[in-house]
Amino acid sequence: MKGVILAGGTGSRLWPLTAVISKQLLAVYDKPMIFYPVTTLMFAGVREIAVVTTEAQQESFKATLGSGEKWGIKFEYCVQSEPKGIPDALKSLPISFKNEPIVMILGDNLLYGMGLGSSLAGAFNGTGALAFGYPVANPSEYGVVELDQKGNVKSITEKPVSPKSNLAIPGFYFFDKSVHSKVLELVPSLRGELEITDILKMYKSQSALRISVLERGTAWLDTGTVESLIQAGEFVKVIEDRQGLKIGCPEEVAFREGYITGNEFLKCINNAPTSSYRDYLISVAVEFGLSVI
Ligand code: G1P
Repeated sequence: MKGVILAGGTGSRLWPLTAVISKQLLAVYDKPMIFYPVTTLMFAGVREIAVVTTEAQQESFKATLGSGEKWGIKFEYCVQSEPKGIPDALKSLPISFKNEPIVMILGDNLLYGMGLGSSLAGAFNGTGALAFGYPVANPSEYGVVELDQKGNVKSITEKPVSPKSNLAIPGFYFFDKSVHSKVLELVPSLRGELEITDILKMYKSQSALRISVLERGTAWLDTGTVESLIQAGEFVKVIEDRQGLKIGCPEEVAFREGYITGNEFLKCINNAPTSSYRDYLISVAVEFGLSVI
């Protein structure tokens, strides 16, 4: 299975912060926003990730993430030329992704929770689609799923005025390879975009959509507005300060998950400039008995 991170879009709701820098490269506390979805995909067991960006920002993403080799993964970069909606971005994927199941995450979505990593790794069996439900106070701002008592999907609506449930659908989806042909059948919604919820409805009509409600202890934050961006940063700071452990640290995830060896981890440390981030990586190395020079 291959991974996709969507980092195109104009980030207009965060303007002027996004006048010269993509939303997904803005800071969420101590690291760029995109580090969080990258590590979520790494926890899901994905080693090849396409990063879809605007043309203007592609170089900045390359400078931030690199080839992925240092984290034991591989990034491919591709361009969504116009912001025509989430599923539209799938049309720009490299050919090697086009006949594959994918796990897709929106670059401004942050997922965190106990056991999330291990539960993601085995979540998808490669057929149909798997999406998630998460109770929110403001469902009208999201795609909303209504479930029956048995957990079957009754309805899916994008940004409903009168939501039928409080379960929003986070920007994190597993699709089998039929998603690539489904995208070609979509027509724009009233807001002029291709909607990811229309893809989910196609799977639903084939009885091939599964919704898993995220456990209460899981945090799902999006960072699309100034307020939610600040809240996400505060959330990360509180957890990191309290536990002394970082959220969304690709070097650490790569090392702990066995994507890179101890020596490769030490190389990451040696290449990092003096910073609290580097100090943290050193503390992880020491925990594993690696000798840092
Ligand atoms: C998009 C999707 C929506 C989903 C949300 C999650 O909304 O259209 O279904 O719930 O992401 O962040 P948008 O970011 O376009 O408002």
